[in-house]
Amino acid sequence: VAPQLDAVRMSIAVWPWGSYLGDRAETEGCRLIVSNWQRNSHQTVPPLAKATGAYVNSALAKVGAQRAGYDDALMLTATGHIAEASAANLFVVRDGALFTPPVSDGILPGITRDSVITMARDLGLEVTERSIPRSEVYIADEAFLTGTAAEIVPVASVDERPLGAGGAGPVTKQLRELFRDVVGGRHDGYARWLERV
Ligand SMILES: Cc1ncc(COP(=O)(O)O)c(C=O)c1O
Repeated sequence: VAPQLDAVRMSIAVWPWGSYLGDRAETEGCRLIVSNWQRNSHQTVPPLAKATGAYVNSALAKVGAQRAGYDDALMLTATGHIAEASAANLFVVRDGALFTPPVSDGILPGITRDSVITMARDLGLEVTERSIPRSEVYIADEAFLTGTAAEIVPVASVDERPLGAGGAGPVTKQLRELFRDVVGGRHDGYARWLERV
């Protein structure tokens, strides 16, 4: 409990990884449940840090959701706003505009979230970072999760309430196709994001 500042060492491991939430989630969308475990708050474990210990919080939510038969959990803040999934950020689409929870709501500000915000704005879509109450997700036209592992995965339902027409809605599809082109090096406009190895 008294870690001292030590030299930082880093290594990078690379391995093949299938779809993070499973192939069904990729095509039909993932099924989410709101967890009764609250997301770490800014007063407990800094949520902005991708710190190993903080992941007990995510693990409790994820394992609880899987045992209940869902793909992943959405975690709330102490005030009942949606923060994020166990290891991915959330976007909702209403009337063609995108909304995503702000950093002040205890999210990890994911690099994929950041990329999606940039790509969406480049496509002329409106993106607003603001608090999202639980019930607003139920009436979203579309929703999707973002993360390095998850990439962009459509949300099929939250708490058994289906979203949109099932599968990826038009905005999710448009962003997912662009994202795949970008990470696959097929889009010159975002070449600055890629590092050739
Ligand atoms: C808690 C949490 N939120 C969001 C994300 C998505 O972040 P990124 O897009 O940087 O992978 C992750 C990824 O691991 C995460 O663990």
